[in-house]
Amino acid sequence: MNIVLLGPPGAGKGTQGVVLSKNYRIPHISTGDILREAVKRGTPLGKKAKAFMDSGELVPDEVVVGIVVDALSQDGTKEGYILDGFPRTLKQAEELDAALKRKASGIDMVLYFEIPEEIAIERLTGRRVCRKCGANFHIKNIPPKKEGICDKCGGELFQRPDDKLETVKNRLKIYEIQTRPLIEYYMNKNILKKVSGALDVKDLFKELCQVFSEAKLV
Ligand code: AP5
Repeated sequence: MNIVLLGPPGAGKGTQGVVLSKNYRIPHISTGDILREAVKRGTPLGKKAKAFMDSGELVPDEVVVGIVVDALSQDGTKEGYILDGFPRTLKQAEELDAALKRKASGIDMVLYFEIPEEIAIERLTGRRVCRKCGANFHIKNIPPKKEGICDKCGGELFQRPDDKLETVKNRLKIYEIQTRPLIEYYMNKNILKKVSGALDVKDLFKELCQVFSEAKLV
């Protein structure tokens, strides 16, 4: 099954992407994760992306589309994949469609995670990430057993630079202008399914599994 996770920052796309990928054994392709890794390594891609990401702006379409087309040409994607955080503009969506059409493939379902803005802000500003293994925590919702330390690997937890309140507000504004139009784009293709991103992690996962099963995707 070829799935897209769509929704504002903080809606829980990345969290569900990880568990769905484990459960259905298909790759989770997160453009945010790929870009952050490139920034960490200081690659040419990372150097190009860093300023955009730190200020909450989108990285230019031509850079991001190239990353995804490359990721989708890997062998591991034959049984399906979960695209998280891509597409994020109409241009990206159109280029994705064109690239998949060339392979006689397409997106089966777009899951739109709907969430009130105040919850997204609370989740993002409270998020802490492990510097070593990348695991996500939240100071209130998913607290680590020991403050500032990753439960999984003992690494140090830090706040993403783009999770500071001012940058979060800019990310949400950018989402409204550049990404929200994709809801209509996919609705017109009859592949959009709305779910509540405000549910807790386990309940939302259960709901997504049910949605896939009803749509006969699994
Ligand atoms: P990206 O990493 O994609 O950021 P985002 O979409 O803003 O996604 P987030 O990770 O902030 O939110 P999420 O919905 O995944 O929520 P999560 O599960 O993490 O992109 C970062 C930047 O990269 C962009 O700003 C841009 O610059 C660039 N970029 C990436 N893709 C691009 C593209 N296609 N085009 C151009 N530029 C691009 O959860 C958030 C928090 O909430 C965590 O603390 C988590 O523990 C907690 N949480 C999650 N689910 C729940 C729940 N159900 N209940 C309670 N807490 C929860």
